[in-house]
Amino acid sequence: MDMMETKTVHTAKAGERAIHPKVMPLYQTSAFSFSSLEELEGYYEGNGTYLYSRTANPNTDALGETVANLEGAPKGVAASSGMSAILAGILAVVQAGDHVLAAQDVYGGTFHLLKEELVRLGIGVHFADFSNISEIEKNLIDFPEVKLLFSESITNPFLRVEDIEVLVQLKKRYGVKVMIDNTFATPYAVRPFELGADLVAHSATKYLGGHSDVTAGVLAGGKELIALAANRIVNMGMNLSPFEAWLALRGIKTLALRMKAQTANAQAIAEFLKDKAQVWYPGKGAIVTFALPESVDVSKFFSSLGWIQIVPTLAGVETTVSYPYGTSHRALSEEEKEKIGVTRQVVRLSAGIEGTEDILAQLGAAFK
Ligand SMILES: Cc1ncc(COP(=O)(O)O)c(C=O)c1O
Repeated sequence: MDMMETKTVHTAKAGERAIHPKVMPLYQTSAFSFSSLEELEGYYEGNGTYLYSRTANPNTDALGETVANLEGAPKGVAASSGMSAILAGILAVVQAGDHVLAAQDVYGGTFHLLKEELVRLGIGVHFADFSNISEIEKNLIDFPEVKLLFSESITNPFLRVEDIEVLVQLKKRYGVKVMIDNTFATPYAVRPFELGADLVAHSATKYLGGHSDVTAGVLAGGKELIALAANRIVNMGMNLSPFEAWLALRGIKTLALRMKAQTANAQAIAEFLKDKAQVWYPGKGAIVTFALPESVDVSKFFSSLGWIQIVPTLAGVETTVSYPYGTSHRALSEEEKEKIGVTRQVVRLSAGIEGTEDILAQLGAAFK
């Protein structure tokens, strides 16, 4: 190798030296090389090496494995976003002709995925009030094609805590599977698989990543269903990039510490707001929703929040607020918004890790 054109292409490979990094390195590579055809054959015989990053990569595998471990599930798989983790999980259970029964208050993106995309694939979709068991059961009786119950452990924006054990009883009675989006609660607060759910989905964009710098998804569950979901992810190109997986894994190292601090702050905020607004806080998780009294000018309130930023997401280490009426629930008609209570006065706050007194002082100033 003498020519500049060749030497610049064939750079030194760190892997050829004996290096023992303290943390998992980033395998930012689209494919893996083999030293012989025998080694390549070994890959297909399952010797644990890697071939091509869309099909598998050490960083994305590590993320799937870590979340499965946190959820108490045998297996996990990473996906390019929360939406693709949810899609892969649903398609692991249902196919054309089958139906899905979902809670009517699921995240707007999931609602659109079900109503606009799954229906186009020939999958029937129904929504029900999951706080009403007889309504769920009526749907299961009326639509025997239902193969999957889908809900969230804590819903948005009014933070209804799903009774997963009830869904698991129905699953046994009607021979369906249960999938829970555990994004808002995280395995720190709720572990749906341990309660009997078949699949647990995450938008790792939120608490798992925790720093608002990654878009990623993870699905955890039993080996067979995760293998089916992983096939969907590979075939449909819904794989996560190694760097995003690396960032999400770095975030997860502090999940417990962050959740502890953020939950304590959320509790203090809910208490502080009690005599100033109508407050929803379920006692777990770090989101607090509140409806300002009519006497408060919402727009003025949002503009008076100082360092508390207005952002259409949640779960970062900074305390932030979002406006469900104008963002997450914007696409709903006035009647639909009114029916679920998303009025112009509703604020959703995501508690960060800042000092409690500073957050309360900033909120207090906005009220003044
Ligand atoms: C509960 C819930 N599930 C899923 C998603 C979708 O996740 P992503 O944006 O990572 O695709 C979100 C996003 O806000 C969410 O809040």
